[in-house]
Amino acid sequence: MRALFVVLKPLCFLALLGYCPSATVRPKEGWQVYSSAQDADGRCICTVVAPEQSLCSRDAKSRQLRQLLEKIQNMSQSIEVLNLRTQRDFQYVMKMESQMKGLRSKFRQIESNRRTLLTKNFQELKGKMNDLQPLIPVLEQYKTDATLISQFKLEIRNLSLVLTAIQEEIGAYDYEELQQRVLGLEGRLRNCMNKLTCGKLMKITGPITVKTSGTRFGAWMTDPQASPKNNKVWYMDSYTNNKIVREYKSVSDFVAGIESRTYNLPFHWAGTNHVVYNGSLYYNKYQSNIIVRYSFESGRVTTQRALESAGFHNVYPYTWGGFSDIDLMADELGLWAIYATNQNAGNIVISQLDPLTIQVLNSWNTEYSKRNAGESFMICGTLYITNSHLTGAKVYYSYSTKTSTYEYMDIPIHNQYFHMSMLDYNARDRALYGWNNGHQVLFNVTLFHIIETDDES
Ligand SMILES: *[C@@H]1O[C@H](CO)[C@@H](O)[C@H](O)[C@H]1NC(C)=O
Ligand SMILES: *[C@@H]1O[C@H](CO)[C@@H](O)[C@H](O)[C@H]1NC(C)=O
Ligand SMILES: *[C@@H]1O[C@H](CO)[C@@H](O)[C@H](O)[C@H]1NC(C)=O
Ligand SMILES: *[C@@H]1O[C@H](CO)[C@@H](O)[C@H](O)[C@H]1NC(C)=O
Repeated sequence: MRALFVVLKPLCFLALLGYCPSATVRPKEGWQVYSSAQDADGRCICTVVAPEQSLCSRDAKSRQLRQLLEKIQNMSQSIEVLNLRTQRDFQYVMKMESQMKGLRSKFRQIESNRRTLLTKNFQELKGKMNDLQPLIPVLEQYKTDATLISQFKLEIRNLSLVLTAIQEEIGAYDYEELQQRVLGLEGRLRNCMNKLTCGKLMKITGPITVKTSGTRFGAWMTDPQASPKNNKVWYMDSYTNNKIVREYKSVSDFVAGIESRTYNLPFHWAGTNHVVYNGSLYYNKYQSNIIVRYSFESGRVTTQRALESAGFHNVYPYTWGGFSDIDLMADELGLWAIYATNQNAGNIVISQLDPLTIQVLNSWNTEYSKRNAGESFMICGTLYITNSHLTGAKVYYSYSTKTSTYEYMDIPIHNQYFHMSMLDYNARDRALYGWNNGHQVLFNVTLFHIIETDDES
């Protein structure tokens, strides 16, 4: 077993050492935030060093300090989100861990009664059990990582308290350089969070039925790039002969049916595989392989581009038909189109798109027939394909664009209302949005990191 599929190798830990005037720092250097990509253990390390008190009263700029504080508070919020997600995974890990420990004690029992058990099955089971042994230290590591995250939280809170105290004491500062460094720190934090939150799909739970409305076929979504406070919902009923997009300010407005706006698109759409990404709607123009980018802000089409060679108009739809030939989606890595071409014998092609120009940046050919796919969605650069839109559907195949390799898998998905005409991952919510026979549903996903156990390091 080369790669253990479980759990966060952690990868990233931001150590924020608070207010620590240091004799080793030359006074002129002022405030500093050091951040280094990763230390030997693969952690991200950030260190804040304060200037000597005597220098601090120069160049009073309290506004900048306030902004800095806000940034740190924002980072703290990000950590909160990360923590929530981690806890959800953690519960799953805990369950597995106790199952495994139970299994182990059972084996000890069995071994002590060896005489009664001489079957081949027993040996096989024992071999399997041995394969699982390395999981235990990995789980221990995971628990440590969860602790690190809460420490980080605490340290950010401490740092922000320290900054507040300094503000009160001195009034203000020259923070320009520090500001720059904090920006860098913020970027690094985002990278760390991406690493911590990306992983391989392990489990799909739910659905929760958010609302029951519309025809059997449709799409609903939120913008994964929107700020955490912006929870606008877009709703596009039916797979054909429609160009009205309904907007709701929040999920609760959506549930209550309180529309905030409607948009009348210039062209009809085909299928249900649209996506809203960074304030624009991307959709497949009816009876064509043209992808349209429509800006909600300006209410206009900003870009249109044909997806070369892509089959359209029920040439290569998903199993349910409905002109679902071209599936647009977004994940942690950006915007994607999933479709099929004659050149690839009707098998699925994955293309990463430039969100501004809709140009294809890179493509991957899979060997999975588009017409035999129920739905597909992308998580962290890996495409997951279900084998049906009907009862008993499961995630059956995955293709990693990172390694250009595929894998068969077996992850059940509860198709509560028997017909799935849309299924898309939202990286911000870390959820799958589904249209399940006139019901708008949400699924949670559990992701785990891949831990390489080969002797590369
Ligand atoms: C903090 O986040 C809020 C909302 O998410 C945003 O309006 C604000 O500009 C952010 N502040 C800084 C300094 O980044
Ligand atoms: C945060 O500050 C409190 C009291 O100021 C201290 O007890 C605690 O150790 C600090 N925690 C970290 C992680 O720095
Ligand atoms: C989102 O749009 C803004 C401008 O509206 C742009 O600056 C930013 O780069 C875009 N982000 C992505 C990920 O495309
Ligand atoms: C997903 O998990 C969150 C947090 O545990 C929970 O509040 C939410 O109800 C879950 N949603 C679904 C669709 O299971």
